[in-house]
Amino acid sequence: MPPHRLILDCDPGVDDAFAMMLAFAAPEKIEMLGVTCVAGNRPLDQTAYNARRLCALAGRPEIPVYAGCARPIMWAEGEPVDVHGKDGLGDVSLPEPKAPLRDGHAVQFIIDTVMREPEKTVTLCCIGPMTNLALAIVMEPRIVPRIRELVFMGGAAFRMAMYRVSEFNFYSDPHAAHIVLSAGIPQTMFGLDITYQAEVNPGIFQRLDALTGPAPKALADMLRTYASMDPRLHDVVATAYLIEPGLFDGVEAHVSVEYTSPTTRGLTVARWTPPQLAAGYQTNTRVITKTDPAAFFDLMLTYLARY
Ligand code: BDR
Ligand code: CA
Repeated sequence: MPPHRLILDCDPGVDDAFAMMLAFAAPEKIEMLGVTCVAGNRPLDQTAYNARRLCALAGRPEIPVYAGCARPIMWAEGEPVDVHGKDGLGDVSLPEPKAPLRDGHAVQFIIDTVMREPEKTVTLCCIGPMTNLALAIVMEPRIVPRIRELVFMGGAAFRMAMYRVSEFNFYSDPHAAHIVLSAGIPQTMFGLDITYQAEVNPGIFQRLDALTGPAPKALADMLRTYASMDPRLHDVVATAYLIEPGLFDGVEAHVSVEYTSPTTRGLTVARWTPPQLAAGYQTNTRVITKTDPAAFFDLMLTYLARY
């Protein structure tokens, strides 16, 4: 399979940080076209700053970073979460960015890149609320058939979220999730179904602590506080899949998201049984449901050892 030529759309976020550092460490599998940022785990100015700090930490200041949407489509403000620390990256010591934020809006960057590059050569990976990609689709629908693949962390097809009926990225901007899910891009979903299967345990900390570079040390420091509240590195499965798709298995389903009801805001609905599909629902998403957690963590640690 040719390497992915990737736009990584994110809201770092401690698990975003791991996902990004993993992607940046695998240039033979992932060519980074750019990082686009969105409001989510923290407000936009912080997520865009964090993305640039992570590029500096990875020694990749040449990766262009764009700021995108500062709020969800239907609400004046997002609802950031505290699990990532005040600054979104566990409040640990990190290098200052080595490169400025690029001029221009992330939505325009997505459109320009997908329209400029040869058809079916650009992959999108969304690991935050999907506001940027949704608005790109609304502004320029011709990007849809040109995208090679969309890989996203969001939703919960076959299980409930623990403290809400929905997963954070879908909850944060369900209208954006609806626009993206129903657009017709070939898409692979990494929801809570899969992220709950790979929990960080003390052995992972030992192996991370055994890596000597400044980047693994910073990541381990970030993870310590985060994992005490949420032991799942949700976003990392999405970039691990771009590197090693064979680690994952799933089912084809029709996936949709609730975007009108305040009671069930962001709830994922997956239809995959033969009677459901016979009733007229077309499959639109590959929902990842299985992985080998040990092999997943091996992959993550092998690539992070490159720093
Ligand atoms: C998602 O919510 C965010 O807090 C994480 O970064 C991840 O993208 C998990 O539900
Ligand atoms: Ca995220």
